[in-house]
Amino acid sequence: MKALVQHVYGPADSLSFEDVPDPVPGEGEVLVRVRASSVNPYDWHFMRGEPYVARLMTGGFGLRRPPVGVLGCDLAGRVETAGSRFGPGDDVYAILPRGAHAEYVCVPEDLLAPMPVNLTHEQAAAMPMAAVTALLALRGVEAGQRVLVNGASGGVGTFAVQLATALGARVDAVCRAGNASMARSLGAEHVFDYRAEDFTRSGRRYDVVLDVAGSRSVFACRRVLARDGTFVAVGGPAGRWVQPAGHVFAALVSGWFARRRVVLADAVACRDKAAVLRELTALVESGAVTPVVDRTYPFDDLRAAFGYQEAGHARGKVVVTLGAVS
Ligand SMILES: NC(=O)c1ccc[n+]([C@@H]2O[C@H](COP(=O)([O-])OP(=O)(O)OC[C@H]3O[C@@H](n4cnc5c(N)ncnc54)[C@H](OP(=O)(O)O)[C@@H]3O)[C@@H](O)[C@H]2O)c1
Repeated sequence: MKALVQHVYGPADSLSFEDVPDPVPGEGEVLVRVRASSVNPYDWHFMRGEPYVARLMTGGFGLRRPPVGVLGCDLAGRVETAGSRFGPGDDVYAILPRGAHAEYVCVPEDLLAPMPVNLTHEQAAAMPMAAVTALLALRGVEAGQRVLVNGASGGVGTFAVQLATALGARVDAVCRAGNASMARSLGAEHVFDYRAEDFTRSGRRYDVVLDVAGSRSVFACRRVLARDGTFVAVGGPAGRWVQPAGHVFAALVSGWFARRRVVLADAVACRDKAAVLRELTALVESGAVTPVVDRTYPFDDLRAAFGYQEAGHARGKVVVTLGAVS
């Protein structure tokens, strides 16, 4: 089968398309034919081996070079072999540790969830990492609460605005002016243009500030956070040495001094990703949420998809398709 293989850390050009042996499912796994995947910041952090601090931690990075393998954590595809819960022909989606940027992948059944019946594989592939992160970030949000999504126009943000709206919250969004109408169409009431306004000086108050962009500190956001409000750390600007991990860690520590509740939404650490995906399947099938797909690249152009996502201005998700299902 064909796969995009990583041998060294570097830019997208350092990844190579190769013929590799077809994977064989082990105990508890099924073989899935990948129909579509998407690109997340998570993928190109692994691609570059950055931030460098991550190379010192457990979790898949190698110190000088990566373990040889296939990147890609978002998968939508069709099951090819019989398992105990899924069988041939089932359309599924999942968050994988890696391996989705290939024609086939073996997946433990407990990572799989049934794909929403009203989505194409391309739309479903836009969901796993970004939508699971957004739903985890909104845990505990109740109808009528005020939620601010900082970084509302990207992968996580477009899901967060829709999901918060579906939960009955009143949502404001921070994005650039060109994306304001999209944010409104997803449910945002008020939209701040981050290049013209400082949302932390708006005088408004929020029960939840969901910080996807990581452009402001907990101390700055305290000005707009209700006394018993929650700052939810998701991401931050990328950097070579410590970012975005540094921003997220600083947010968690500053919560103690700012006397505000700070929590981390972490899809990677989530223990039951498939259960969260099943919740999302129901929300999509009810019509409450629809993935926003900015661009779809053919599999052969996967390296260009990495480049576009890494530039940091996608409007929603960047999807990779392996072709229609016959
Ligand atoms: N912890 C987890 O499990 C987890 C999971 C997924 C993602 N993340 C992290 O979350 C972050 C976002 O991920 P993503 O997939 O949503 O990335 P993305 O699709 O690239 O979106 C990033 C968005 O940030 C916006 N942005 C940039 N600067 C901004 C600013 N100063 N104010 C407001 N918005 C700004 C960009 O909009 P413009 O085009 O207007 O600049 C873009 O829409 C990354 O740091 C990622 O690593 C964490």
